[in-house]
Amino acid sequence: MKKRILAAILAGAMVLSLAGCGKASTGDNGQGGAGKTTTLKLAFNQSENHPQYKALAELSKELKEATNGAYEIEISPNELLGSQKDAFELVQNGTIQMAMVANSIVENVNSDFAVLGLPYAYDSIEHQKKVFTSGILDDIFTSTTANKFNVLAAFTAGSRCVYTDKPITKPEDLAGYKIRVMEAPTSIAMLNAMGGVATPMAQGEVYTAIQQGIINGGENNEITYADLKHYEVAPFFSYTRHLMIPDLLVINADTLSGMSEENQKILKDLCKEYTNREFELWNEQIETAIETAKAGGATFTEVDITPFQEAVQPVIADVVGKSENAKALYDQIRALAE
Ligand code: GCU
Repeated sequence: MKKRILAAILAGAMVLSLAGCGKASTGDNGQGGAGKTTTLKLAFNQSENHPQYKALAELSKELKEATNGAYEIEISPNELLGSQKDAFELVQNGTIQMAMVANSIVENVNSDFAVLGLPYAYDSIEHQKKVFTSGILDDIFTSTTANKFNVLAAFTAGSRCVYTDKPITKPEDLAGYKIRVMEAPTSIAMLNAMGGVATPMAQGEVYTAIQQGIINGGENNEITYADLKHYEVAPFFSYTRHLMIPDLLVINADTLSGMSEENQKILKDLCKEYTNREFELWNEQIETAIETAKAGGATFTEVDITPFQEAVQPVIADVVGKSENAKALYDQIRALAE
């Protein structure tokens, strides 16, 4: 894995130096079609089939056109540049320029982000869309420059649900069950509160860990469940819908500030537009994912979420109680619910 990551980064460095822009922070050539194209390397941990990949590929094409060839984005899918945690560090230190990472990864450097990924924070996909497009996240997204990155957009990743070797319809069903969660304190506290044993690890390791009995299952959305064929090793998917955690499109802070004002605006506007587009692509693909998983032997079970909602209340109170900012943001999110 490490070798694969290094090879990919070296190949990327060659692309950058061939393009005459060896450093992420090298400024904007602003010369339109006549200038050289700066390639922004973007790490993505899922496949080319994923709605986020499709949205980002479209965005990249438009960015190149709109900046007259000054910028393009090169997406490396399938954890080629490492797990989300590794990729996020590469963005912060400027080795690569962009990444799509789960909100939980960002929560580790700024705990206010935990609010965006609280269990049951969003009532529906429509509610989440309102939150992501309302502008209430603008401040938190630009608050991270000191940590060497900025957030350009929040993309939906649907609702996460538990999957294992039996249906889970109440917290007691999870007793003693080791369930993989994303690598962040809120995810760990949440799954433990839901009755299971939280086991943090990178997404790329989950299939084998379930297969080898190191864990009993995972929690994710239907698209990732199908795409990574987790149904083969954990065929019971239970609609706990406990988490609608966003994925965040992050960019190295120097790369962003090195762009001309005009190109920054183009990029930011495109990110707003593609936040909506990705919701569309997500909704289009979800049924296919469910059908694929069913054809592969998966069983989907509806669940009364009330006991799970009750179980995670202390986790919500803890995160919201951490700062004034956290409380204010949570209230703003909830105020947009129907
Ligand atoms: C989802 C999410 C990813 C995340 C993954 C995970 O697929 O979109 O950003 O990496 O879950 O569970 O790690």
